[in-house]
Amino acid sequence: MQFFERTAFCGQVNEAHLQKKITLCGWVHRRRDHGNLIFVDLRDRQGLMQVVFDPQVSTQAHKVAEDLRSEYVICVTGVVVDRMPGTINNALATGKWELQAQTLTIFSTSKALPFSIENADEVDEELRLKYRYLDLRRFDMQKRLALRHNVIFAMRDFLNQEAFYEIETPILTRNTPGGAREFLVPSRITHGALYALPQSPQLYKQLLIVAGFERYFQVARCFRDEDLRSDRQPEFTQLDIEMSFIKEGDIQDLIERLLAHLWKKILGKELTIPFEHMDYTTAFARYGSDKPDNRFEMPIHDISSLLINTEIKFIKNVLDLGGKVGALCVPNTVFTRSELDGWVTKAQKCGAKGLLWIRFKEDGSPDSPIAKFLEADFLKQLQTIIKEAGQASTLFVVAGPYQEAWEVLGRLRLALAQSLNIIPQNVFNFLWITDFPLFEYDAQTKQLKAAHHPFTAPQDGWEHQKPQDMKARAYDLVLNGNEIGGGSIRIHDAHVQRKIFELIGLSEQAAQDKFGFLLEAQEFGYPPDGGIALGIDRLIMLLAGVDSIREVIAFPKNQRGFDPMMETPSAVDDTILKEYGLRLLPTIKKKE
Ligand code: AMO
Repeated sequence: MQFFERTAFCGQVNEAHLQKKITLCGWVHRRRDHGNLIFVDLRDRQGLMQVVFDPQVSTQAHKVAEDLRSEYVICVTGVVVDRMPGTINNALATGKWELQAQTLTIFSTSKALPFSIENADEVDEELRLKYRYLDLRRFDMQKRLALRHNVIFAMRDFLNQEAFYEIETPILTRNTPGGAREFLVPSRITHGALYALPQSPQLYKQLLIVAGFERYFQVARCFRDEDLRSDRQPEFTQLDIEMSFIKEGDIQDLIERLLAHLWKKILGKELTIPFEHMDYTTAFARYGSDKPDNRFEMPIHDISSLLINTEIKFIKNVLDLGGKVGALCVPNTVFTRSELDGWVTKAQKCGAKGLLWIRFKEDGSPDSPIAKFLEADFLKQLQTIIKEAGQASTLFVVAGPYQEAWEVLGRLRLALAQSLNIIPQNVFNFLWITDFPLFEYDAQTKQLKAAHHPFTAPQDGWEHQKPQDMKARAYDLVLNGNEIGGGSIRIHDAHVQRKIFELIGLSEQAAQDKFGFLLEAQEFGYPPDGGIALGIDRLIMLLAGVDSIREVIAFPKNQRGFDPMMETPSAVDDTILKEYGLRLLPTIKKKE
């Protein structure tokens, strides 16, 4: 039995090892039996190395190697030699050499895998998640998690240099109204009362500022019981930051320098800072979104004013009810009839009741289901609003209530750009979105709710405005159409805080019950402060060039919030439930 003494990593074998005796450990990636010679590609975290078992070098090692199969875990000692000319593999970092095995130890065998490590990209994601520890063996996944490590390490390093303290805050915390839905945690010793998992460490970080830490950060795990998407997980990680005695510009400057540091360190690229700013109202009017992808233009044009006297009935109805008509123009593209039908269906999937199109032929004449209403005068005015609307261009028109119609146009804009392949790749366009409304209307509760969170400071002049006109001192950071961060300047005055609670329908008593500790803290010398949280998973997803955050999280949940590996959430024995003072309704007990 040979001693377990690794002296090199597979992927790091190089010229300096030539003719030297080394010991490698790892997994059998591939095995090829050429009769007399057995070849194994040995894999470890660093890469692959070819090992040759030649009976003339060691009959013992060759004999043991006959039993090797994929994913066996082994240790091999041998001498590094040049590969025969003609067998060099330039695609592999170690492709010039091979290890002539002298001794071989099998640490463990492996059953046939449920999917091949090499082609796991083509495997159903559910199976990948069920055997995540095998999926994670793939170089792609190893690279992404290494990237994640490097990014988080660089973040900590940068913030440490900037005199921030990393301070942990509780995971067992209290239920707070108004934000995302929370996960609740029962406890054996507090029957009838529940903890909540934090949506974010928002209140704790504000209290750390009251405590005088001045510069706080945390790589913080957050939990939200929301509908999941490719960029949303029920538990995710934020780079959470808070600073006292600062204004919006200080936070934005810090984040720009932090990201420039990351881009330099991780990608070797210079970022241009400061980033562009756009106010929310402009962003929504131009792009139908609060996180516009500004790698391409294709803005939404408001053509309502041209249609005031229209005879097109449904547009007239929309305008009479105070709605708007918006148009997207795709220049230099004349779609076929069936392509246009496809876009009508697509618009319906994006939430539109209908989609009108006007296709300008090469000679400039319009073709459209509403052609008979398109008088020369209208077309001329149209071209003053939409300069690109002319020969060989296509216009897509949506009418409806402003918010709804523009959201549809925003989604359609993205879908069109993707399908036409006009989104520049390998660019990183950062954009600050600012001047958000302070409140939004919650149709479910028929109440105003805080658009960011209720601790966000209103902009000056709010006392004299209607709630729907009040603006927040909040900012979001958008990268290529993804919201990668959000933050605000906070309310540090208990009177203002009470007023905001009142406006979102929290009675004085309810505010005291839920947030008494904050209102009290605000009366014990609370400095002006603000902060931000970056979504680390989303940021790494974009750095890694993948389209789901599940690809950059070691053990994510699936799209239904279920973990197919641990099979959780899972049923819990009645005896245990009893200890917690719980009884579940039968539907909740149902297994996936
Ligand atoms: P916010 O709710 O905007 O702000 O969250 C900050 C950032 O976290 C990321 N994020 C998510 N990532 C993955 N899955 C999710 N379910 C998810 N939800 C949010 C986004 C988002 O921009 N406490 C405030 C910050 C502050 O005011 O300082 C907060 O949490 O990238």
